Amino acid sequence: MTVPRYKWQPTTLEIAAAAGIDPSEVVRFDHNTTPWPVNWAVELAAAAASRLNEYPGASYLGIRRAAATRHGLEPDQIVPGAGADELILLAARAFLQPGQVAAAVTPTYPLYQIACAQVGARFEQVAAMAPTFEIPLDAIVSAARAADLVWLCVPNNPTAADMTPEAVDAVVAATDGVVVVDAAYAEFTGTDWAEQVTQHSNLVVLRTLSKAFALAGARVGYAMGHPSLIDCIDAMRPPGSIASISVALAESALQRPELAERAVVTLAAARQNLAADLGSLGFRVLPSEVNFLLCEVGAQAGAIAAQLRERGLVVRTFPEESGLEEYLRFTVRSRQQNDRLITNLREVLP
Ligand SMILES: Cc1ncc(COP(=O)(O)O)c(C=O)c1O
Repeated sequence: MTVPRYKWQPTTLEIAAAAGIDPSEVVRFDHNTTPWPVNWAVELAAAAASRLNEYPGASYLGIRRAAATRHGLEPDQIVPGAGADELILLAARAFLQPGQVAAAVTPTYPLYQIACAQVGARFEQVAAMAPTFEIPLDAIVSAARAADLVWLCVPNNPTAADMTPEAVDAVVAATDGVVVVDAAYAEFTGTDWAEQVTQHSNLVVLRTLSKAFALAGARVGYAMGHPSLIDCIDAMRPPGSIASISVALAESALQRPELAERAVVTLAAARQNLAADLGSLGFRVLPSEVNFLLCEVGAQAGAIAAQLRERGLVVRTFPEESGLEEYLRFTVRSRQQNDRLITNLREVLP
């Protein structure tokens, strides 16, 4: 069986070696991560490291409690995972049988299709409305009627297209299957999703600490949902996929919402500036409330990305037949890093 794989761009070390520069000079505009080092985490990580000879508590009750408190839910409505990515794979295993159908609006986060392939389910694509890539609500509601699972990425990576809670409710109401809302960027739009989770017994919402909380390297996310759905995901979970250092960081971060709030405010200002600068280069910049910008660049998109990479700047390109071959996606980073991107873009543009 050949299952498609998630394709990362080359690592920072590989890029640095190819460009002949120090790895510290490489800037990742392709991962939608947050640009600042997480200094508050250093002492906590060191303290947790002193207990590395033991396994983490496999139920991860501390993360469940902290996440439940954050959203006004109960711990049995939460299940943690090693990032939203692990929870995507677990949700597919929990809710899809071979031959069943999962629907999604595409282009979207590629892991949903991979998760479906891993369990032998069919991935049904509903095309977003080019050139704005808005979500075609009627079409996804109609596909949801016949689907066993619906993936909704809200806001959507890579297009940044958003869906209102009411639109999501319409999809949830249309299907007898499970709806999985991947809300990896929820902090940027301010939608919490806890109310929807309480209202619907067939809705799972995925959250992550990788984006607004800036803990991508810790690999922690969690799913929120009806206790019966959460239990189905929990049953698929490896006993200890979240390392104890990451548990300590996640429990602390979840009790400090100001960490995410600060990042969201700072990045919103940086995004406005970056969007204006990218627009002034002649790119069509799609509307975004998140920490990345999708731009229509033209036929030379791949060549521009390759030249940037030679200078240590990595941007997200898209494969053939994705419909986004002429687009690039840029993570919004610090003001200084964004300025370096724009300066280099000016130099490499034909
Ligand atoms: C929509 C979406 N879901 C999930 C992830 C992965 O999240 P995590 O780091 O929690 O595995 C990403 C990362 O880019 C993403 O964009």
